[in-house]
Amino acid sequence: MVQESHLTIRDLIYPVFVMEGSQTKEEIASMPGCYRYSLDLLLDEIAAAAELGIPAIALFPLIPYDQKDNAGTESYNPQGLVPRAIRAIKQAVPNIVVITDVALDPYSTEGHDGIVKDGQILNDETVAVLVKQALSQAEAGADLVAPSDMMDGRVGAIRAALDAEGWINVGILAYSAKYASAYYGPFRDALDSAPKFGDKKTYQMDFANGREALKEVALDITEGADMVMVKPALAYMDVIHRIRQHTNLPVVAYNVSGEYAMVKAAAQQGWIDEQKIVLETLTGLKRAGADLILTYFAKDVAHWLKG
Ligand code: PBG
Repeated sequence: MVQESHLTIRDLIYPVFVMEGSQTKEEIASMPGCYRYSLDLLLDEIAAAAELGIPAIALFPLIPYDQKDNAGTESYNPQGLVPRAIRAIKQAVPNIVVITDVALDPYSTEGHDGIVKDGQILNDETVAVLVKQALSQAEAGADLVAPSDMMDGRVGAIRAALDAEGWINVGILAYSAKYASAYYGPFRDALDSAPKFGDKKTYQMDFANGREALKEVALDITEGADMVMVKPALAYMDVIHRIRQHTNLPVVAYNVSGEYAMVKAAAQQGWIDEQKIVLETLTGLKRAGADLILTYFAKDVAHWLKG
């Protein structure tokens, strides 16, 4: 009766990995229990998530190396893996919300979220490509596009382009406070997208900064974000809490790959109780102020909450 925070299945967003091929799935070594799926098998996985009551998925592609280049050209191919996946998902599982990632890293030979020149990331040139990527996703049927690249000005540019092309009902989930984090390691294994040189500190945030997150959120809101995200989640609960005080938009927390991997590793050793740890962690994110949580545990949590 006096419980203040509640974790429900409707709070969950399930991130999934898609690859080319058929009838195959590959377990990600650093994320036991998570797979890259060929599109046909992914549809079954998403149907199962919808059946459990999970309201949304976030889609991430594994792009073959020969389709990568510095400018991420494949990212806006209308017949590319992501647009094909969106169309198939919308047809097979029409009642699940499809969120797509807007960033160049899976498509970049450099493994960066932007175009690289002389060892630097070109912000404005990258934004122009991100706009094309977002439009190709909207055209394929994405419900929300989610720029995760942290280029300046991308939310405003994407909003303007979506509106100009008539995609007025496609929303933007902005990765607003995204930190340059070691917690993304397993995800980069999953997509073969680790940076080939340097790190992402010139565009992702310094993990020592909290006030800067409020600045980034304020900019994204002014530019037209419909939801704002904090990523990673666990080392940044104070940031989630501060952003919750700062905006009435939905606040989304991304319980990232490294957070998943740590729990899995300890659970496999028998050192912790996986179910209890996950439910405590995700409820903690709700208490901190998150409305929605991206988590690779989404299906497990849905099973556990159903009891
Ligand atoms: C890249 C992107 C990353 C994640 C989501 N989108 C990795 C990165 O920024 O290097 C990480 C997700 C996770 O670790 O679970 N645009």
